[in-house]
Amino acid sequence: MAKKLFIRTYGCQMNVYDSSRMADVLAPLGYEPADRPDDADMVIVNTCHIRENASEKTFHELGRLRQIKQDRADRGEETLLAVAGCVAQASGEEIITRAPYVDIVLGPQTYHRLPEMVARASRAGGAVLETDFPVEAKFDHLPAPRADGLTAFLSVQEGCDKFCTFCVVPYTRGAEYSRPAAAILAEAEGLVANGVQEITLLGQNVNGYHGKAGTGSLGLGGLIRQLAGINGLERLRYTTSHPRDMDDDLIAAHRDIGKLMPFLHLPVQSGSDRILAAMNRQHKALDYLRIIERLRTARPDIALSSDFIVGFPGESDADFAATLALIEAVGYAQSYSFKYSPRPGTPAALMEGQVPEAVKEERLAALQSLLQIQSTRFNRGCVGHEFNVVLERPGRHPGQLIGRSPFMQSVFVAAPLSLLGSLQRVTVEVALTNSLGAVLSDPERACA
Ligand code: 5AD
Ligand code: SF4
Repeated sequence: MAKKLFIRTYGCQMNVYDSSRMADVLAPLGYEPADRPDDADMVIVNTCHIRENASEKTFHELGRLRQIKQDRADRGEETLLAVAGCVAQASGEEIITRAPYVDIVLGPQTYHRLPEMVARASRAGGAVLETDFPVEAKFDHLPAPRADGLTAFLSVQEGCDKFCTFCVVPYTRGAEYSRPAAAILAEAEGLVANGVQEITLLGQNVNGYHGKAGTGSLGLGGLIRQLAGINGLERLRYTTSHPRDMDDDLIAAHRDIGKLMPFLHLPVQSGSDRILAAMNRQHKALDYLRIIERLRTARPDIALSSDFIVGFPGESDADFAATLALIEAVGYAQSYSFKYSPRPGTPAALMEGQVPEAVKEERLAALQSLLQIQSTRFNRGCVGHEFNVVLERPGRHPGQLIGRSPFMQSVFVAAPLSLLGSLQRVTVEVALTNSLGAVLSDPERACA
């Protein structure tokens, strides 16, 4: 009889990708997706360590799942409970001690070993813990993921060696690793053969990609050129990039490759050189502005996005003003901004000059109001324009489907449910701060 699998995913797109690959790895064992944990023979919580109080939130959730596991046991049904992702990596031993009802704890580099862990957990009493960093590529021996719709993620690179002083990723995702180009091309071809038209390349440091290709090595620009050669693949994106790795070839790819969408998420975090140095970002504000200039020369319509942290230890009013000045100089289409919050085990958590919460809140509000003015301005500039949009999911209201513009904004399109999962040409009619409203350009010709 088929078994049911429920995966709850927190955090970044890499986790979303990993969750779907975990489902792929478990499918040969007979696991099919469940809608609710209550119906599942196996539950995986794929955790994110970037969330504030990530560990405590995970323990809360595990407490709830323990009850479900108990209720099912009372009905004579077994449940395997697994914790995956970055909290599992960082706090594996603690999970086993504090939540002894958990059967499997696995770090982000060991998902391909899940079938073996499931077998061991079903046999053994006691939890199975796998949080080492093996050298083998985790998914490279698997067939292409099952494609679901016209868009897909594809992991090309994992881990990070940059050690920004606020960030847990180098500790939870391990050292930088690039998948061989051949494995990526094969996965992309498999996805396209299954109907995918748009692929987003994923990596914690995606533009640091340097994969083996034949006897040499390939950077992200070269990889994008090769992927763009796949017939039937219409759009490429990549995320997340680091300013230090924005090389000439990648910038040139934005000029040369029409399939590469005119959008780049390039986090700067701060506009102050003093804070950038304390963050160990390894670049100055001016270096970043020069990159933006070169990108705009290569692709004048490129839309830019960034992450910002306010209230990093030691951030003065002048440092914060430098961040606002950088934002003014760039002009962002969208952005993510956070109050600095100390993550245990990272150098910044121990730095002097921690900024009071009230100051962080004030700075965040000022930063976000400037960024909102910019995103509203950018979105207004899209009104009247026509885009091709993949209608990916239903909107909140009936008669509304949601997709992404080439510039990455969410586009709410007035369209019937029958067009879900199709690519349509739409005309933008309304601009909001974080999204666009559009209608089908030619409703007569719209086809599912
Ligand atoms: N505090 C606040 N924001 C953080 N980020 C990462 N670590 C922290 C932290 N300790 C933000 C950064 C990063 C994004 C994914 O999360 O801006 O780019
Ligand atoms: Fe974290 Fe910095 Fe690496 Fe990005 S580059 S994952 S912020 S350490």
